Order: sequence, then C-alpha cells, then structure tokens
Amino acid sequence: MADPLHNEFPPDSIEAKDLKHLLHPATNLAQHQANGPRVLTRAEGVYIWDNQGNQYLEAMAGLWCTALGYGEEELARVAAEQMKALSYNQLFGGKTNEASVLLAEKLKDMAPMDAGRVFFGLSGSDANDTQVKLMWYYNNAVGRPEKKKIISRMRGYHGVTVASGSLTGLPPFHKHFDLPIPGILHTDCPHYYRGQEGGESESDFVDRIVGNLEALIQREGPETIAAFIAEPIMGAGGVVVPPAGYYQKVQALLKQHDILFIDDEVICGFGRTGRPFGAETFGIEPDTMSVAKAVSSAYLPISAVLIPETLYEAFAAMSAELGNFAHGFTYSGHPVCAAVALRNLELMEERDLFAHAARMGDLMQDRLALLGEHPLVGEARGAGLIGALELVADRETRAPFPASQGVGAYCMARCEANGLISRAMGDTMALCPPLIITEPQIDEIFSKLEVALNETLAWVG
Ligand SMILES: Cc1ncc(COP(=O)(O)O)c(C=O)c1O
Repeated sequence: MADPLHNEFPPDSIEAKDLKHLLHPATNLAQHQANGPRVLTRAEGVYIWDNQGNQYLEAMAGLWCTALGYGEEELARVAAEQMKALSYNQLFGGKTNEASVLLAEKLKDMAPMDAGRVFFGLSGSDANDTQVKLMWYYNNAVGRPEKKKIISRMRGYHGVTVASGSLTGLPPFHKHFDLPIPGILHTDCPHYYRGQEGGESESDFVDRIVGNLEALIQREGPETIAAFIAEPIMGAGGVVVPPAGYYQKVQALLKQHDILFIDDEVICGFGRTGRPFGAETFGIEPDTMSVAKAVSSAYLPISAVLIPETLYEAFAAMSAELGNFAHGFTYSGHPVCAAVALRNLELMEERDLFAHAARMGDLMQDRLALLGEHPLVGEARGAGLIGALELVADRETRAPFPASQGVGAYCMARCEANGLISRAMGDTMALCPPLIITEPQIDEIFSKLEVALNETLAWVG
C-alpha cells in the first residue's frame, strides 16, 4: 500500500493548505509539520478511504463515535428534510421544536436511570461542563453552598473545556493549560494490571483504592463534595475495565455521603459495552448521565445531560425566585442534530443493533484474548465492542517500553500501512469499531492487527 505521507506537497494541494492553515486538535504539531496530514475523502459502512486511494477498516469508529457506520442514506434524508422544514430554532425563552422534544422523550425511555429532564449540548465536553455547573447550581438552590467539589479519576477523560478538561485525569490536558481548576479532585484509576501493589489480589486492589477514595472524602469533608464522575470503561485513558465489584463499593460509599454519581456514557452509551449502556454492564445506578458520540453516530454534533426530576424541581424553584435558568447554548436542541439523533436511535432499535453488537462484542473479546498471548502484549482487555492490547517490554514483570521509543505509535503506523485504523494511547492499542461490524470484518481487523504486531515485534528487536 502506498504511503501518502511526505513533506513536499504541491502548493495548491489540500496537504500544503492544511499545513498552512489548520491548528489540529490533539496532534503532535512538530511531527505533523514534518509528516503532513492524511486526507480522508469518503467512507461507507466500516471502511474509509484517503485521497491516495487507500482503504482502511475504521476500527476506532472515528473517535469512538460512528456507531451506525458511515454513509447511512436514511440519516442524510432526515437531515435534508429537517433543514428544509426548520433549519434552526433555539430552545431559549421557552421556544421548542418537535425533534428535540421527541429525542428527549426517547433518551429518557432508554436511559438506565430515573431521568426527569434532558438538557442538550453539542459535545461530550460541554455536557460534562454542564454537569459541573448543574451540581454547583443545585447545591446553591438547596442551601448547601459548601457542597461543590467533584471527584474524578486519574486517567479518566471527560473533555477539554475548562471544567471538563479539569475533570480529565490525563496530565497533558492540564500541563501549561493552567488546569485543573480548584475544587476538582482526582482519585485512583481502577486499573488492576498497572495499579496492583506487592502481589495483591484484584479484590484487595479494589478495597485499597476504594479505601483511598474514602480517605479523600474524609480529608476534604463529605459536606464539601457534590459528585463523583466516571466513564464505566475509561476510553482515552487506555480502555480501562474496572475489576468486578469496584463500582458497587464506590457507589455504596458515595450514597453514604450523599455524593451524586455522574455517569459519563459518552463512549459507553448505546450498545458499546455489550449492553445498551455501560451502567448496565457494570451495575451502576447513575444519578445523572452525559451522552454524546453514538447518540447521533456522529452524523451531526449533539450531546445530552440527563437529570432526575428532583434536580429540575430545585432549578424551577430557584427560577421562580431569580428569573431565567441562565445556562444554554445557541445550538442546544438544534432541530437538525436532534432529528438525526432521533432517527439514529430508531434505526438502532429497528435493526436490533445492540443485540448484534453484543454478539460481535463476544467475538471481538475472544479474538482479543487470543492476541493477549502475543509476545508483545501484556494485557488484553475490554467489554463488548471496545477493547485494547497493552504492549509491554516484558510480559513477566509488566515492564513498559520507554515512552521515548514510541512503540505504540509505530504499531499504529503499521496498522495503517496494513489498512487498519486503530489508536495508540501510549503503548496501548485500542479497538472500538462501528457497531455494524460483521464477523468477516472482525476477522479482517485481527489478521491485520496481528501482522502489525509482528512487524512491531521485529522492529523492537
Ligand atoms: C468519556 C468521554 N467524555 C467526554 C468526551 C468529550 O467529548 P467531546 O470530544 O465531544 O467534547 C469524550 C471524548 O472522547 C469521552 O470519551
């Protein structure tokens, strides 16, 4: 397969213009300037093509989001119809539109919580920013102005805005951005493989980190802590699957101290982990939820925050006193985004996609476990159609490669050269294919991944 990357591009090419005009998100800017961009031009199903004619199996569903796959005509039709009928209106000042109302109703029906109201945004980051503001606002409304801190976890990813970036527990998202803001606390990452100490068992590990959480709550004062936020499976932190019993113990502790559980379902929501929501896979009882990504299969940007009626009642009471509930975006409840998201969720149900994803997920986990025996792989982990392989220098001691060696980045490049899009988070290779993936396509993922792993093994020597 031809490698389109080189740094001498014709001045009128998209590549040259990219290098001149764009500031790329989450990109090594120095390397990008040297290597140039990869220009993607079209996609269909689980495949995507670049402008050099190379085909890739998109085993990351974009950024964990294109659940229904690419090129769904029905969603294009719904978007066009909604644009022609009502291309925009706002939900400010009590105006509304049918698509947003019906989508809110649908989300409440689907969500594994007693949801009372739905607030719309455009991204996972703004949803989690809204979560933080709503926790502050709620505790002011109910006369507990000191109960404001939010506990997040190391290696958690909740977005990049000022508040959600603070919730994120990955150092590069803080360093030199002057984050986190005060009042955001980080507790242990529940990754047994990396976090275990002195040969402790998995359940001893859980007891220790839940004990650390309890100590943090006591140190800060439970009366100062509003909420705890978690992704059921951490995505960008390296696909971390917590040990059995972890969430049950965390949740019992939170309940004891009247600390709410914010369930960030931005990746796990809508069939990703083998059940409709990650909360169901792990037995979490969310107090509030954030959803984005697969809610529209990324056909258009939309996110939602689901809250119980008790929070809404407190907001309504405060509004009666103060006037406006003064939070919202120009595009909260954008009718075209809402119509597309609603049809996306209907298509998922009509096609029984969650059951299909669960079957394909079992298959993917079996195949991951087999590759877990590869000499480069320290741990294979995941649930449903999300998984990862952590590459290590020594399987016995779990010793990682030096970060400077760039083993994960090399393996990712070999995957791409073999026509597979995976994502390296450090030396952890992630998979998160569209939920429509089929059995032969899963075979294709793993045969390509194995070739890439063998090439990487030969390279590290
Ligand atoms: C769990 C989780 N929460 C929040 C976000 C932030 O979403 P966005 O990039 O749409 O702001 C992400 C993005 O990957 C995510 O994985």
